[in-house]
Amino acid sequence: MCGIIGYCGPRAASDVLLDGLKRLEYRGYDSAGISVGHNSSLKVFKKEGKIRVLRDAVPEGVDGQWGIGHTRWATHGGVNDINAHPHLDCTGKIAICHNGIIENYIALKEKLIDEGHAFKSDTDSEVIAHLVETFYEGDLEAAVKSTVSLLKGTYGILVMHSDHQDLIIGARNGSPMVLGLGDGEMFIASDVSAMIAHTKQVVYFEDGEVVRLDRHAYSVTDMRNRPVDKKVDSISWELEEMEKGDYPFYMLKEIHEQVVSIPRAMSGRIDEDQATAVLGGLNMSEMELLGVKRVMIIAAGTSYYAGRVVAYLLESLARIPAVTELASEVRYRNPIVEEGTLYFALSQSGETLDTLMAIRELQRKGGRVLGICNVVGSTIARESNGGVYIHSGPEIAVASTKAFTSQMTALYLFVLKMARMRHMAWPEGKKFIEGLQSVPEKISRIFEQEDHIKTLAKKYHEAESFLFLGRGLNYPVALEGALKLKEVAYIHAEGYSAAEIKHGPIALINEETPSLFIVPDDHLRDKVLSNMKEIKARKGPVIALCVEGDKDATDIADDVMYVPKSEEIFHPFLSVVPLQLFAYHCALELGRDVDQPRNLAKSVTVE
Ligand code: G6P
Repeated sequence: MCGIIGYCGPRAASDVLLDGLKRLEYRGYDSAGISVGHNSSLKVFKKEGKIRVLRDAVPEGVDGQWGIGHTRWATHGGVNDINAHPHLDCTGKIAICHNGIIENYIALKEKLIDEGHAFKSDTDSEVIAHLVETFYEGDLEAAVKSTVSLLKGTYGILVMHSDHQDLIIGARNGSPMVLGLGDGEMFIASDVSAMIAHTKQVVYFEDGEVVRLDRHAYSVTDMRNRPVDKKVDSISWELEEMEKGDYPFYMLKEIHEQVVSIPRAMSGRIDEDQATAVLGGLNMSEMELLGVKRVMIIAAGTSYYAGRVVAYLLESLARIPAVTELASEVRYRNPIVEEGTLYFALSQSGETLDTLMAIRELQRKGGRVLGICNVVGSTIARESNGGVYIHSGPEIAVASTKAFTSQMTALYLFVLKMARMRHMAWPEGKKFIEGLQSVPEKISRIFEQEDHIKTLAKKYHEAESFLFLGRGLNYPVALEGALKLKEVAYIHAEGYSAAEIKHGPIALINEETPSLFIVPDDHLRDKVLSNMKEIKARKGPVIALCVEGDKDATDIADDVMYVPKSEEIFHPFLSVVPLQLFAYHCALELGRDVDQPRNLAKSVTVE
């Protein structure tokens, strides 16, 4: 969601904040602002638009050695300069940045207005500045603590006061916050990407903690003023991994990276001799794993579709009943947690609030939740009872691509382990491993078709509406393909089970509405071919995404994309890649902002 950053140190704070905001921009990019302190006054710059607009508005060499900044994804109040953060109190001495939503802001605002405070913005966040003003009696930290004790909702907050040179107070509840320890300088931000250029030593915060930092030191206390001991962690990502390199967009880079990110998710986790997987991070003994009777996977967005693929496989190969559910639904439907059910939370960012809240609800009821995350040290990874990092490297494009295949890889290994503990024999385990290991090379062959996929994007990008259709393991992939097209090209796309179109969506078919079919190479192939014919009979354009050499699918379809032949269980890894490329190239044709599509944010830390 929003990105926040704070800096105390010897450098020009505005430069550090603007560079940090650029790296946080994927979290929200409708407006941005900074506040820097100099000679007991604050200079505040706020602009609607991308960070580059803000950068142009900040004078070169503006003085200030400490400051806070924010990149916004609007929730309360329209997108404009005034609603951009930081927000000031009435005296202009206190500046705050906030990530999250203050749910009780209306009542607080009314009370503050009654007390004479003048509000400038339409945001929920501005109440924080005025509350700190109300409580401030010379101790900024105490004023922040009194303020947050009144807030309901989620927040990651940074506060500065012009009279307290070199001091920033941070507080968190439900929104991520991490401190970066530099040499004579300190950073605080909503994620490590903002500080990786300066330091790799970080401290993660938990809900209810308040941090006080200056350039030399920091201290953390809880709401009852008890000191909290914190552990210093190291960031494993390299700065270069966060650069685009020779690629025009992060999305294209990350699609191509799948040939290396999938092996990374497997690395050190395969026991070739025993033909099984080694997943120490699960923190579960073989006996405990044997006791698993059901699996529930919870997630949002692309992660949810990865979970749906795996749920199919858990049932078919490991014979364990499995479902995947939207985290946002699980949380509020009072889920029944039973002994024998194992929960997985899938989240690239490890910060998605819906997923985090569902985890907490399940854990409250005694559920064991394992996290499958990419971002090391993220809240979901820390709060889970165990889990597996997918080690994809930073995923920066808002539309998720490589995380999808890496999440599947990690969970395919779990399926292998569970299947081998039950009834999968050694030779089948061996075959499974070989199949999974052959996926990256097959994906690299798909890239040879990129020019062809580009041509198809040129042909079809003007369509107003699209259907993506698949069955079995490829049904969730169809859903993911439709999501990608919506996210980056803004083309309305419905993902559906190919079997279900006759129950409704077929009414949408006309000469202008293309249907993209994922044609499997398994027992469902003939059924899907029949579904394609049903569309052709109604003059709907058909694109087939089929296995190389599938003459029948090629004959029926108007256009074709191919994937290399594989065991059917690995087909989803291959079929998703052309769909990612197709969405990317349609977006390019339409001149979309591929990496930062309108209205979206990478890390959704509000409900
Ligand atoms: C947002 C992103 C999606 C992502 C989803 C879940 O909506 O724009 O790309 O799939 O959140 O994110 P997570 O980090 O939990 O996988």
